[in-house]
Amino acid sequence: MASNLELVRSRLSMRERLIVALDVDHLEHVKQLVRLLAPEVGMFKVGKQLFTCAGPQAVRLIQEIGGEVFLDLKFHDIPTTVAKAAVEATRLGVKMFNVHASGSLEMMRATVKEVHRICRQEKRRQPIMLAVTVLTSLNQDDLKRVGVDGKVADQVVRLALLTKEAGMDGVVASPHEVTDIRSACGRRFIIVTPGIRPVAGNRNDQQRVMTPGDAVAAGVDYIVVGRPIVEAKDPVAAAREIVAEMESGGR
Ligand code: C5P
Repeated sequence: MASNLELVRSRLSMRERLIVALDVDHLEHVKQLVRLLAPEVGMFKVGKQLFTCAGPQAVRLIQEIGGEVFLDLKFHDIPTTVAKAAVEATRLGVKMFNVHASGSLEMMRATVKEVHRICRQEKRRQPIMLAVTVLTSLNQDDLKRVGVDGKVADQVVRLALLTKEAGMDGVVASPHEVTDIRSACGRRFIIVTPGIRPVAGNRNDQQRVMTPGDAVAAGVDYIVVGRPIVEAKDPVAAAREIVAEMESGGR
């Protein structure tokens, strides 16, 4: 029988599965983009650039206009510090946030425990808690230099399993890793993938890209797209085109 989580996810429209990366450095630009795109997409990703320049104000602005937020700060620190940061992300009302799985099982367990506790105690909505496995910018040689022998793909699956064991909801991963993660961690595990490019589009600096349709067909739950939408002459048309491509892959 399908779990509640599976039922909720299977009902998500492709629009709700599209996350726009707001990698910009000005709140006016955020306001302009979110006003245009809030009815078109499911979430807005606030990463290190925007958060460092504008702080929680960026999150509140998106929420005031009616958008949901994925807070992509990839916390990695001692367990208590990460758990406290996660509590503040929860109090900000973000829909999704992330940590680094390599921060340890204990760090992720402490995060899950504190977020659950604060949601019960303060009657808050529980955010989706994700972990980054191996950054897609790292290759085999980079891992070896930091003392990790073995294949990148094996390290990704090892860290995804650790994330699941800690009770987190899922991972951020390359679309090319989805099949391995899905078979190791099961259908209920949430997979969010950046590195997505529409069929006709510039790859920018992304190396191993996948189209929105192929990513959905591979079994991702949410896709993250930044520049192809944010830098488009018509961001609404760009977002609609990506949703249409996701729909064709989902059939
Ligand atoms: O503009 P683009 O679509 O390449 O943006 C992708 C977003 O996803 C950026 O915010 C980038 O930092 C993030 N990201 C990524 N690859 C990862 C993790 C995050 O591109 N492995």
